[in-house]
Amino acid sequence: MKAIQNKAIEVLNKNWKDGFSVPCANLYPFQWFWDSGFIAIGFAHFDMPKSEKEIETLLDSQWGNGFIPHIIFHTESDTYFPGSDFHRSDLHVQASREYRSTGMTQPPVTGFVLQEMYRISKDKKATLKFIEGVIDKVYDNHNYFYTNRDPQNEGLIYIYHNWESGTDNSPIWDDIWATMNPPEYTFERRDTTHVDASERPSKREYDHYLHIIDIAKEHNYKDEKIAELSPFLVQDPLFNTMLIKSNESLIDLYQLIGDNQDKIAQLEKWQNQAIESFNNKLFDKELGAYIHYDLRNEKPLRFVSSSSFSPIYANIPSKEKAAILVKTMMDKFGNDHQYLCASFDPTSERFNPKKYWRGPVWVNLNWILYKGLIQYGYNDIAKRVKEDTIEIIEKNGFYEYFDSRKEEHVDGKAGYGGKDFSWSAALLIDMLN
Ligand code: DGY
Repeated sequence: MKAIQNKAIEVLNKNWKDGFSVPCANLYPFQWFWDSGFIAIGFAHFDMPKSEKEIETLLDSQWGNGFIPHIIFHTESDTYFPGSDFHRSDLHVQASREYRSTGMTQPPVTGFVLQEMYRISKDKKATLKFIEGVIDKVYDNHNYFYTNRDPQNEGLIYIYHNWESGTDNSPIWDDIWATMNPPEYTFERRDTTHVDASERPSKREYDHYLHIIDIAKEHNYKDEKIAELSPFLVQDPLFNTMLIKSNESLIDLYQLIGDNQDKIAQLEKWQNQAIESFNNKLFDKELGAYIHYDLRNEKPLRFVSSSSFSPIYANIPSKEKAAILVKTMMDKFGNDHQYLCASFDPTSERFNPKKYWRGPVWVNLNWILYKGLIQYGYNDIAKRVKEDTIEIIEKNGFYEYFDSRKEEHVDGKAGYGGKDFSWSAALLIDMLN
């Protein structure tokens, strides 16, 4: 086991850029929000100063209204499109004047990442001191979400762009693309010079992605305008799970720090409403899984993906609902020919085991499911998720994502997307320890 762990450490150190980490070379040459969080968990096991710095740099990019962007463009790079000139975060009145970034966010992992760092730390006193110095920024980020991203006051946050979900080209979004007809943009793709086009989103999908950004830019990234006009407005179970888990972590950490009764009370209020609405609105009895909700077109998006099972990580389902979820996961995603856990329903005609978030296995979702399964006492299935994760990495290397079909893993070529990918390394280290 030691050899693979040493390799993982090498990957993380290689992707460290003096203050933050890139997800991987060339394909993703900047700092990404949720990547940074998962990377900090990996570093916490062997280099706490880097773990802390990763989070500090991320939080430094925070806007005046508490928003944290999805990409922070620390350097110039011509290996990535669309770059800072396209995104133009400076259009927002409260954007950071120091860092150029996108004007969209990503799943809010920071709260639970701080708690993981504390759990892993061998010097809890020093780590709690670090947390005390940054925790209010994370609280402000949650306040941003509940104040600006919940127009009907449900306790559920919307995302306005598929890149905010983290599951960029999920087949779930196909239903939304069908409601849009964006112009054909002229641009030069950079991702497909690093990675085979069959593993990435299509040109036409990118037209949709760019068009949503253009609408937000026309209104200087004002939240009220985005809520009114964005053709993409979705309540995403994975995104809301990350926020709810982070709420819980902030409550625990504020209690450890002491003296923060007002913030704890506010977090509990958000939390209670969020969990209730989540179960009432996003659980689909017939499918036996949590689903996405299209707030723009007021309709449920009735598909099962790995995001559908993520709520077990944040203690959202009752024991009974968790049992239903696990059954759905094993029935649809867990037969002997599949590695756990495909990112999209393998029994659906939209499933594609090679293409980014349309089917491949991702290490971060496996880590989330692994932790959640243990919380609910599904130790055998958790063990399988862990063993599958180790096996696909051992067979192929630290890729960004992996073919979910076992029979494809014969010649070490079933790892796709970016190579030496940071969170695959970081979360493997955490699973092994
Ligand atoms: C990309 O460029 O594919 C990124 O995932 C956006 O976050």
